[in-house]
Amino acid sequence: MSTTNFYDVEEIAKLAGNGDKPAETLGKVTAWIARGLQADVCSAYLLEPDRVHLVLAATLGLRRECVGTLRLALHEGLAGLVAEQVRPVAVERVQTHPRFKYFQESGEERLQSFLGVPLIDCGVLQGVLVVQTEAPRVFSESEIEMLTEAAAQVAPIVSEARTLDKFIAPAQEKLWAVARNLTSPLSQLVAAARSVSRGDLSARSNVRTADEIGVLGASFDAMAERLERQHIATIGALASAIDARDPYTAGHSVRVGDLSYELGREMGLPRPSLQHLRVGGLLHDIGKIGIRDTVLLKPGKLDDDERRLIEQHPTIGLRILEWAELPKEVLEIVGGHHERLDGTGYPLGLSADDLTLFPRITAVADMYDALTTDRPYRRGLSPQEALRMLWRDAEGGIVDPEVVATLRRFARHWESRRSGAGTRTSNGIESLEALRERGDQVA
Ligand SMILES: [Fe+2]
Repeated sequence: MSTTNFYDVEEIAKLAGNGDKPAETLGKVTAWIARGLQADVCSAYLLEPDRVHLVLAATLGLRRECVGTLRLALHEGLAGLVAEQVRPVAVERVQTHPRFKYFQESGEERLQSFLGVPLIDCGVLQGVLVVQTEAPRVFSESEIEMLTEAAAQVAPIVSEARTLDKFIAPAQEKLWAVARNLTSPLSQLVAAARSVSRGDLSARSNVRTADEIGVLGASFDAMAERLERQHIATIGALASAIDARDPYTAGHSVRVGDLSYELGREMGLPRPSLQHLRVGGLLHDIGKIGIRDTVLLKPGKLDDDERRLIEQHPTIGLRILEWAELPKEVLEIVGGHHERLDGTGYPLGLSADDLTLFPRITAVADMYDALTTDRPYRRGLSPQEALRMLWRDAEGGIVDPEVVATLRRFARHWESRRSGAGTRTSNGIESLEALRERGDQVA
């Protein structure tokens, strides 16, 4: 067997310079190499953009329908070994090699010997060039050199037109489209499943294709919807238990959860953030469970010890929720809803740089609800009065002005919803400072 006339660097350059599409050039080059090396098969596998898979891009000898659809990971098969180790691999009897993998769809069951070399351009791996023979063959050093030289000529063609689609003959384009249509909904489904498993129960796949994947997507979304409803209902039950300790704060946590959610929506936050605001609002005062009734329900002014005790409720709340695996945004709300941007809040005296939007929103919702709700020692303020006080606090750098501005725009709608629900209380006027004097009920 003589292959000595095979190597001719000019030949591949000529094939590449014909003005053909890259797919056609690559097809001609593989045919030319197969002929020159007297091999039964010559194939070019290209490294996909993920750089962990190879795809068959051109072949003489394997089934044509495999072009664009036969994919293998770098850890698979002998072609994968060439790409993984970036060196030529020659095997006389492939079945005896530990890395041999038989790809039934390509029709390579008859093939005995394998020679593969990496396609490298400017030091970057582009793919693998492979020849295979039906008769067992020991590839000589010069044959390995020839294929390596050919690969050096082919690699620039590959990197020049890197987009894989360009290598796929028109007949294979439909197969690519089918493959994409399958993988895209699956990717959406996988992304949603990962989000739910990380605790974001608001994630949905939104896959609605008219096939089994669509059924799977709809079922997954229904399951996530049910889980989310159960989760919110459980948190809501807990919030009701908190509010039930003090009849004058009945419904406070639910309203703060709702108002935080609506403020976030008005501010254009994404759905997962809105759910964090609702859950955080519902749970923001959970630490009050750990405050004794004589302090929590005291109608008059709190003394210093009592005030210090009640100011522990955000810290106690975090301790209670320590093992609940809640999103950090929810914990930021529970721990930070009494912190103020100018550092005058509690329990840590954090300031603007330490406070994310979540506790800032819930702080405003909490203050607004407390100000506008009747208490045993005072009547609730009108919405207008409460908004004026909050705006003064915003101008004074105490609360977030953007959140208060959003509340000013949204308050009328919120109040009509609130009165529709029959929870609006009577109005009265008392200064914010005076309310603060009384203890924790406002700030
Ligand atoms: Fe609180």
